[in-house]
Amino acid sequence: MIKSTFLGALTLFLVACSGDDIEEDVSTDPVDQVDTTLDSDLRAIIVKQALTGDPSIGRALPDIEEPKAQLGMKLFFTKSLGGDFDSACVTCHHPMLGGGDDLVLPIGVDAEIDDLLGPGRLHNVNGDHFDGGPTVPRNSPTTFNVALWDDYLFHDGRVESLGKTPKMGGKDGLGIRTPDVPFEQSDGYAGDNLVVAQARFPVTSDEEMKNFSNFGGTDNHQVRENLEQRLGDYGNPLGGKLIVNNWLAEFREGFAEPDGTAEELITFDNIAKAIGEYESSQIFVDTPWKAYVQGDDSAISDVAKRGAKLFFSAYEDGGANCSACHSGDFFTDEDFHVIGMAQIGRGKGDGEYGTEDFG
Ligand code: HEC
Ligand code: HEC
Repeated sequence: MIKSTFLGALTLFLVACSGDDIEEDVSTDPVDQVDTTLDSDLRAIIVKQALTGDPSIGRALPDIEEPKAQLGMKLFFTKSLGGDFDSACVTCHHPMLGGGDDLVLPIGVDAEIDDLLGPGRLHNVNGDHFDGGPTVPRNSPTTFNVALWDDYLFHDGRVESLGKTPKMGGKDGLGIRTPDVPFEQSDGYAGDNLVVAQARFPVTSDEEMKNFSNFGGTDNHQVRENLEQRLGDYGNPLGGKLIVNNWLAEFREGFAEPDGTAEELITFDNIAKAIGEYESSQIFVDTPWKAYVQGDDSAISDVAKRGAKLFFSAYEDGGANCSACHSGDFFTDEDFHVIGMAQIGRGKGDGEYGTEDFG
């Protein structure tokens, strides 16, 4: 089962929007015929489905210029959070690659060239666990608009809000479940929101960031402790190495505590908070569709309008029923659906032979 996402759906509209010139051609294709009720039909759907065009409405989201988001950006880009200094968050979530990595399956640690991102990034054949293909089992989702998810993060939802959102009962304070705790239990270290909670995990994955030598045999807690000590230059971290950034100065500025010590400020909780703040500033919602929903009839082409009508209409009304799952302004019901998607990649170790992926 796979979490439905909105981004691809949005892309459909954008692609459709760029085909303006089609309309000027004289054509017998039914898709190009003038439909005088198109705008009124679509606006009726928009009202009925209570669309605003802007999934960010009502959320307190940070600005990239804020000091904590700036600190988070530097942490997101540093390979010092990789066990063997060879992989960073940005390795698989680069802003220039749409918040992803433009690969079907990512290459994290042990790349041929650490600093080469996107197509052409290959495993070093001498790397630990190299066996001919990408070793991370699932595709890197974008970090763009990640702060707009209320219920789950990860394809299989293993970072999960336990009732924080209106949809799940609206009860605040039930916390967040993460892979560090059993099902249905709240993780006391998860932090304030799903994005912060998620940021605690990539560093613990052997194949994404941890690697196999420096932090060999350590558990999730020890990995994070080693990393905070490495960045803060205190304690006796495994795999410590000269760090070029002045992280203490960066953390003092990011957390507005000019006198804070490394032990106080450079904690993994704060690392996750700052990274979460940076990711939450990556909000991109100014689309032609938003302009259309908010009243500008000329913001999208007629072809796109017909696509939207199909997208948001049920089968009974001659539609394609996409919004049964890709509903609302964020184009998703945030739920899990069996969609017959073939498994791509090596799997997560499910099934009789450990080669399947039920996520
Ligand atoms: C080697 C590539 C790689 C690296 C490095 C990496 N990620 Fe990811 N990221 C992934 C993959 C793959 C997934 C999906 C995993 C899954 O769902 O099982 C993911 C999922 C996510 C998600 C969830 C998105 C969603 O919509 O559910 C966020 C947020 C994220 N990563 C942020 C980070 C941060 C922060 C870091 C650094 C601390 C990081 N990633 C490092 C590959 C990577
Ligand atoms: C039964 C629920 C359901 C229906 C109905 C549905 N989808 Fe999806 N859709 C999904 C799920 C689940 C995914 C997988 C998301 C993932 O892999 O992260 C998906 C993925 C997508 C993606 C890729 C999104 C991305 O970010 O990669 C696009 C584009 C898409 N759907 C468009 C459509 C269109 C167009 C329709 C109508 C013709 C439609 N969907 C109908 C559930 C549905």
